[in-house]
Parts: sequence; structure tokens; C-alpha cells
Amino acid sequence: MSGPPVDALSDLPGVDAWQWVPGPGPAALLVAGPATGTTVRANPDVEQAFAVAGAAASAAGDAAMAGADLSSLPRLTRLLDEVALLTMARVLHRARLFRDGMAHDAAQVLDVLGVVPRHAWIVRRWLATLVAEGRLGYDARTGRYRDLVAPDRVGYARARRELDEARRGLGYPPSMTRFFLATADRLPALLRDETGVQALLFPDGATDTAEGNYRDNLPSRWANHAAAMIVGGSRHARSEGPLRILEVGAGIGATTRSVLDALADTEIDYLFTDVSRFFLISARTLLGDRPGLRFGLFDVNLPPAGPGFTPGSRDVILAANVLHNARHVGRALAALRELLCPGGLLVLVESCREHYQALTSMYLLMSPSADEQRWFTDLRAGQDRVFLSAAEWADQLDAAGFDPLPVLPGDDHPLADGGQRVIAGRVRSGIPRPDPALVAATLAARLPPADRPERVHAVDRVIPAPFTATMGEPR
Ligand SMILES: C[S@@+](CC[C@H](N)C(=O)[O-])C[C@H]1O[C@@H](n2cnc3c(N)ncnc32)[C@H](O)[C@@H]1O
Repeated sequence: MSGPPVDALSDLPGVDAWQWVPGPGPAALLVAGPATGTTVRANPDVEQAFAVAGAAASAAGDAAMAGADLSSLPRLTRLLDEVALLTMARVLHRARLFRDGMAHDAAQVLDVLGVVPRHAWIVRRWLATLVAEGRLGYDARTGRYRDLVAPDRVGYARARRELDEARRGLGYPPSMTRFFLATADRLPALLRDETGVQALLFPDGATDTAEGNYRDNLPSRWANHAAAMIVGGSRHARSEGPLRILEVGAGIGATTRSVLDALADTEIDYLFTDVSRFFLISARTLLGDRPGLRFGLFDVNLPPAGPGFTPGSRDVILAANVLHNARHVGRALAALRELLCPGGLLVLVESCREHYQALTSMYLLMSPSADEQRWFTDLRAGQDRVFLSAAEWADQLDAAGFDPLPVLPGDDHPLADGGQRVIAGRVRSGIPRPDPALVAATLAARLPPADRPERVHAVDRVIPAPFTATMGEPR
């Protein structure tokens, strides 16, 4: 079915607003009850409790960086950005674009570079970024770009040498310099899908370069320890039985290890999941002997099902640097909330800042797959972006039925600009929501099986998406 069955979605019991989420996988329907406001609702009790927990989490993050020189972080971060800007400009210049006063629109640039459709967004972001940084001109009237400031050979070589200084100061291992330079040198081939970033990030299946990206550097170290402290604060959530944790997109286990350390003397039922079997195999080797630790496949874009995914069965869900992969964040959050028990805790680590360096490296891993019909269908639809801001995450948690807790580190922290943020929320109670089973039964009476959503999720609010997700109100 191409679109939502709009007529059948009117007058659903208890539903004031709905949002049809087309996929990937089977379509889902988000339904909300009487409007309860459109902004983040502060819950004083939760905020009071979190002020204490947040201070402890921040202290744990700070302790993990003891001795690090934080004053140089802005300069080093800018160095990384600078190499990336020069790299983008160099790729365009070497393709003989913008030479001799020539102007081109984005389609021509993509064509000359031979960029595959799935990576086109990255090059459009390069153009917008170079314009924002004053290194490329743009005429909004014609939609054409011109006057590229191309890097000279000496300046580019110097910037590449300085990359290693930035890498060291930010706490990345030496393999990160090799990775950044290897991707920079292969960008034309990477953009044409003639080669892949995975082979550079996991050479011969080794994970140490990736660990540098998600564990060893200062912003990640801070975030992982702060997140672990928040999860550890839930250890007394249950009067008996193990603390039931689900981790999604656990990958190389960078956050997992900090969390398991924080729960060293706690009985756990910890389900470590990822969409890729590769990570489950390496995690079994790395973490496997801890009692209560189990491993499984889970895709945040598909409805949770099977053992370990019973509604209301988890005390904590942890998702570090993964939830931006959800094609519709609102649907993914609603599905995760259903897995949590009343008062259950969701802890996210997310990058909330644009890193130019990623535009020439890691972003290639985030493009849609070649056979994917659409990419994001939530507020990011059609915007050539992957990450949400801290305020957008707080709004998403609120709409999905969580009391969002203040984002860490706070805006005045030296690492706030580094972009890695810890975003947490507790399952909210007391808001009347439609009954998903009743809504599903009503739809079953109105629609043939092929036209029905596979899941109905009750949320507190639906967040408008620019155009691809269809929304409606009763007529
Ligand atoms: C950036 S890494 C984060 C790794 C990990 N959380 C850590 O801190 O070490 C993203 C991880 O999310 C996984 N991932 C990507 N898309 C996913 C999806 N749709 N569902 C579940 N996991 C996904 C990847 O396989 C990868 O392991």
C-alpha cells in the first residue's frame, strides 16, 4: 500500500491525533489522546531527583577525564573541522569543479563526482557547509555555487600534520589519524560506493579504531561514564530480582563496559543487542563471562519481538550513539517505552553537534542503504541530516511519553560543545493515552489485513514531520 488509509483513521476511539509511519518494515501508527500541550513538560519531582543524579553523573564524567587539558578542546576541535573543510574543497577542486569562475548547481556537482544517490546528501552538506564557512559562494536566485576557495598544496599538507596533534589532544588513539586520512584520500571512490568505510574502520575485523571513536576520546569517555552512573543509580529499582537492562546498538560495547563496571556488585539481566551479528560475536569474546549477560539481534527500525522484548519487562534501556539510526525516532522511542516497566529509565548517548570531520568519514556509514525506499520519515525528512539537537531529543522523549531529564553535560560545561550528550527520561505516568489494542481492533474491523498498520503505539503527542510521514486529526 502506498499511503495511509486516511478515511479509516478518522474517529478512532480516544484518538485526537495520529501519525502514519511507513517503514522500513511494516507500517506503524502513532496515536495520541487529548492534546496535553506542545512543549516539553517539566516534572518538578523528576527534575528534583535528577538534579542529584545529574550531579553525580557529571562528577563521574569529570573524574574519567582527570588530568586532561580541557582548555585546548575548542582549538583542537576546530583543527579537526579545518582539515575536513580543506578535504571537501580539495575533492571538489581536483574534480575540476568551480575552476575559472565556473558556477555549478548541486546536481552538476553530484554528476561530475559520480556520487551514488544514497550518498548525495553528504555532498549537498559539503556545499552548504563550505558556504556557511565562507569558502564557497552561493546564488540563491540561480541555485548555483561558485568561487570555491581551494586549498593550496602546502596548506593542506600542514593541516594533515596538525590533525595528529588534534587527535592526540582529544584522546583518540593513533589509528584515528590513519582512519581520517585514509577516508580523506579515498573520498571520490567512497562517494561512488567503489569502496566502503567499514573496511577502513574495522581493518581485518579489528575494533580498536572504532573504540577510539566511541570510547577513548574525551567527549565519549565523559558521556560513557556519566551514562553508566545514571544506569548505576537504578540498581535499587527492584526490591528483588536482577536489574533488567536492554542495550540496543551496543556495538563494540564502549558504553557497556562502563555500565557493567558501575554495576559490578549488582545482579543483572543484561540483554546486549545490535543489528549486526559481527558485534555480538566480538562482544561475546570481550564481555561474555559476566553472569546475567546475554546477547541478541535487535533492529531499532523493526517492531521488538521475541524473548527479552516482552512489554513492561525492562527497568532500563540504554542506547549509545545508535538511536539516530531510527528512521522515525518517535516510533522507535514509543516502541522502547512499551518495553519499560512503569517508571523505567531510558538513557541515550547522542552526538548533538555537527562535526565536519564526520562529513568526510563516519557519515558515509549513515547513508540509507542502496535499496531503501525512503530515508528518515520524522522531523529530519528531506533535510540531509542525521543528528538531532539536544532540545529536539528532549522534545522527542516528551512526545513519546517520557519525563525528559536535563541533558548532560550542561551547556556551561567545557565538553558541551564537543557534542556527545547524555539524554535520559523516565516513563511518564498519569497522561491519558488511547488504548492501542482498541485502536487496532477498530482498524481490523475497517481495513483488510494488508492495509492495516502492523503496530499501533500510543504516545503523548505526535511531532509533525516535514512531508513524508502523514498526519491527521479526526474529521
Ligand atoms: C556508532 S555505533 C555505537 C556503538 C556502541 N553503542 C558503543 O558505544 O560502543 C552504532 C551501533 O549501532 C548499530 N546499529 C546501527 N543501526 C542499527 C539499528 N537499526 N538497530 C540497532 N542497532 C543499529 C551498529 O551496528 C553499531 O554497532
